[in-house]
Amino acid sequence: MAIGVFDSGVGGLTVHHRLVERFPRADFVYLADQANAPYGGRSGEEIVALTKAGCVRLFDEGCDVVVLACNTAASVALRRLQQGWVPGYRREIGRPVNILGIVVPTIEAATGLPWEHEAQWREEKAEKLEVLGVFSTPATARSRVYEIEIDKRRQDVAVFSEPCPELARMIETGAAREALAAVIASHVQALKSRIGRHPDRAILGCTHYEIVADLFQAALPAGTPLIRQPDATADALSRYLERHPEFHPGHTAVRRFLTTGTPGGQNKLVETFWGAALSFEPA
Ligand code: DGL
Repeated sequence: MAIGVFDSGVGGLTVHHRLVERFPRADFVYLADQANAPYGGRSGEEIVALTKAGCVRLFDEGCDVVVLACNTAASVALRRLQQGWVPGYRREIGRPVNILGIVVPTIEAATGLPWEHEAQWREEKAEKLEVLGVFSTPATARSRVYEIEIDKRRQDVAVFSEPCPELARMIETGAAREALAAVIASHVQALKSRIGRHPDRAILGCTHYEIVADLFQAALPAGTPLIRQPDATADALSRYLERHPEFHPGHTAVRRFLTTGTPGGQNKLVETFWGAALSFEPA
């Protein structure tokens, strides 16, 4: 069948790109919900409803597995859809389907621990030795998923989130790199003022930000390691498909790109990142 990749817009292409490299023969359908992007300022209920509609569209296209290549959708909607909707939907359509996210793989990469591993609570307060910064949309920051889940696993890591309300839209609409660099520098400074120092490592907790990862790298102290979501997600999908042979990623290297927004090409920033012109069909 095929692997579906979903994002509110073009950010998920950063994950998609790595998945295509990792699974060169698999069939992929990418869906960008650009008519409703950005998701980061929306309510939880809206994000759940839009994510569910995107998954239905991709399952209708024949996808078996949908990867939510969007932190906002994964942190706000994934668990609710997996627990409250997918089991009934599977019975309704009479075939196995599933939705995976990118937050769990990122936390595994950030902690160096498998998801199942939770630290034993200790009586004494653990000393926080490392500071991890997370740049994300406001909805992802509000969910506190990175703080909560990393704290369960690594009590020696202190997590601080910096919401960047305008950044995904700027990337989506092809803003100039100078303007993006200024906004990114202001968020890096804001995080530094709040913590009192720069983070030791950082998560770009919005898939759009990977398109401008070099600007984050330039704004952070030289050599600050960035935890890469595309790599972490490709590793996790590979392990998942090995464990679940009932899901077929296809083998004819089909690549389709759908959008709920305006079909056709994408902005220059995105095509530069992708390394080729992209043409989207109407969803
Ligand atoms: N790229 C998505 C994320 O990772 C969504 C950005 C948005 O729509 O606000 O959060």
